[in-house]
Amino acid sequence: DIMNSPFTAIGGAEMIDELVNAFYKRVAKHPDLAPIFPDDLTETARKQKQFLTQFLGGPALYSEEHGHPMLRARHLKFPIGPRQAKAWLSCMHEAMEEVSLDPDYREGIFRRLTLTAHHMVNLEDENS
Ligand code: HEM
Repeated sequence: DIMNSPFTAIGGAEMIDELVNAFYKRVAKHPDLAPIFPDDLTETARKQKQFLTQFLGGPALYSEEHGHPMLRARHLKFPIGPRQAKAWLSCMHEAMEEVSLDPDYREGIFRRLTLTAHHMVNLEDENS
């Protein structure tokens, strides 16, 4: 039920907007992430807002426009090692703090994102 979803509870589209903007601001500056992302993150952020909306129980915006997420498959063309997963999660953790994501939901959401991030890993770190 949409009214009981974390999406609604944390502040809906407005909060997803703030969170994703705070997140990509960090991705753009992170030495382990910036090189594999496009210079212009506008479209990337738009898709991530759609995805997180449905991931958190809101309307299925991502699937309506792009079909099944198949996230691991969509990430295979990018080199993602444990280092990149850790960087992604640290940018997300900081973004959650910046936007003061509801502490009642933060840990659960972060745990789910951690599982998803580890699922995206498709190569070993070179120097670790
Ligand atoms: C797209 C990197 C984890 C969701 C992308 C793109 C890159 C990337 C380079 C393509 C950007 C573009 O061309 O616009 C990474 C890295 C991760 C990671 C390094 C570290 C583990 C995640 C996680 C999620 C996620 C955990 C889900 C919460 C998405 C979505 C897209 C995307 C929805 C757009 C896919 C599309 O093109 O339709 N990611 N990602 N990513 N990522 Fe990730």
